[in-house]
Amino acid sequence: MRKKIVAGNWKMNLDYSEGLALFSEVVNMVNDEATGNQQVVVCSPFIHLHSLAALAKGYSNVAIGAQNAHQAESGAYTGEISAKQVKSTGAEYVILGHSERRQYFGENNELLATKTDTALKNGLKPIFCIGETLQEREAEKHFNIIKSQLVEGVFHLDADAFGTLVLAYEPVWAIGTGVTATSDQAQEIHAFIRKEIAAKYSQAVADATTILYGGSCNPKNAAELFGCADIDGGLIGGASLKSRDFTDIVKAFN
Ligand code: PGA
Repeated sequence: MRKKIVAGNWKMNLDYSEGLALFSEVVNMVNDEATGNQQVVVCSPFIHLHSLAALAKGYSNVAIGAQNAHQAESGAYTGEISAKQVKSTGAEYVILGHSERRQYFGENNELLATKTDTALKNGLKPIFCIGETLQEREAEKHFNIIKSQLVEGVFHLDADAFGTLVLAYEPVWAIGTGVTATSDQAQEIHAFIRKEIAAKYSQAVADATTILYGGSCNPKNAAELFGCADIDGGLIGGASLKSRDFTDIVKAFN
């Protein structure tokens, strides 16, 4: 049975002590809610990773992730953070390909393929984000865009490496806008992604892949989204900054 995950993406929010305070609330609240094959992942800014990973050790269903890592192993890249450095904090996951990285930092599929390789090589599990813009959806290009993000970003991996990934479908028009994809729209894309994985690898690999939905997911819409056959949880931005909302989203699994 594939893993069910609710991942919080704090983005560039919370100073060091605010992050620790939020995480302390969150771990206590979510630990009783996430059971069995359900996992909660908190993707914090780099400055929090080590402290959060130490706190998360006591909670079997809680893990920590970064929001980015560099494609090179190490070297003269002032201000950057390598996958190995992220891993050394105790973090297990790394978000790659978030639309904000694609949009504001010029990260394209080719670069993201390299970042994925480097992250995997260093023992991190990528949460690999894909999704179309509003313009692309209105032009009915969304299936093509998502397919090319998969083909160019992650389909170079062999089946074993691919099995380490978590995918996140995040329609760009739904991120931070308060506009959520309907559960039908999200399920349609998730089923498409799973079909593409089956065609590339096998039905078994497709069935084992966790595919998260992200984009204005909140305590009100989470249960309906998570109830869809191919939606295995969520990547949560704004609502992950409030312990009550985030916990209620985790509860939506049940
Ligand atoms: P949002 O962000 O939940 O605030 O829409 C989701 C994301 O960017 O991962």
